[in-house]
Amino acid sequence: MLLHNHILPLRLPSSRNRNGRRAATTGSFSLSDESLSSRGFTFHRSAENLNLEQLNSVFAAVGFPRRDPEKIRVALEHTEPLVWVEYEKTKRPVAFARATGDGVFNAIIWDVVVDPSFQGFGLGKAVMERILTALLDKGITNIALYSEPRVLGFYRPLGFVADPDGIRGMVYSRKNKSKT
Ligand SMILES: CC(C)(COP(=O)(O)OP(=O)(O)OC[C@H]1O[C@@H](n2cnc3c(N)ncnc32)[C@H](O)[C@@H]1OP(=O)(O)O)[C@@H](O)C(=O)NCCC(=O)NCCS
Repeated sequence: MLLHNHILPLRLPSSRNRNGRRAATTGSFSLSDESLSSRGFTFHRSAENLNLEQLNSVFAAVGFPRRDPEKIRVALEHTEPLVWVEYEKTKRPVAFARATGDGVFNAIIWDVVVDPSFQGFGLGKAVMERILTALLDKGITNIALYSEPRVLGFYRPLGFVADPDGIRGMVYSRKNKSKT
C-alpha cells in the first residue's frame, strides 16, 4: 500500500481559495482540461453518462477482472471523487480513477486505469492529479492506494511513498482466517 506523503509539499501546482484551501484551477494541471479537449478528450467528474460495459472493457484490456456492472454501479454510488476521460471520436471511456473514504480524513484511490491504446499520453497522470486535488480541496490528507510493483514509478512522482514512518499496509485475508 502506498500513502500520499502530505508532509512533503504536494507537487501539483495549485492556488488557494478564500478559505486558504488548495483550489484546483483548470490551468494548474500538467495537462489542462482545455488542452486535452483540443486533442479530443473530455473530462468527466461524475458517473453520469459513463457506460459501465465499456468501462469494464477497459478494465479487462489492462488485465483487471471484469466485474458485474450492477456491482460497479453500486460501488460508484459510494465513490467520491471520480474522474473519467471520454475520447470524443468514439464516445468511449479511455481513462478512469476513483476514490472512496469518509469525506473528511481518509481516502483510498481505486481502479486507476488507462486504455492501452491511450497509455503514455499523460492521461493517467491527468486523472490522478484531479483525484488528488479533489481530495486535498476537501482537506483529506490521508490518501492511500494499492500499487502493483510495476506501477510504483508512476505513483511516486505524484507524491506517494511506500511504508512511510515504518507504517506497513495489511490486508485482510479470508484464507488465513479459515486456517485458524
Ligand atoms: C499505470 C497507468 C494508469 C499509467 O497511465 P498512463 O496514461 O500510461 O501514464 P502517463 O502517460 O500519465 O504517465 C505519467 C508519467 O508516469 C510515467 N509512467 C507511466 N507508467 C509508468 C510505470 N508503469 N512505471 C513508471 N513510470 C510510469 C510516465 O513515463 C510519465 O512520466 P513523465 O511525467 O515524467 O513523462 C496505465 O499504464 C495503466 O492503466 N496501466 C494498467 C493498469 C494499472 O496497472 N493500473 C494501476 C493499478 S495499481
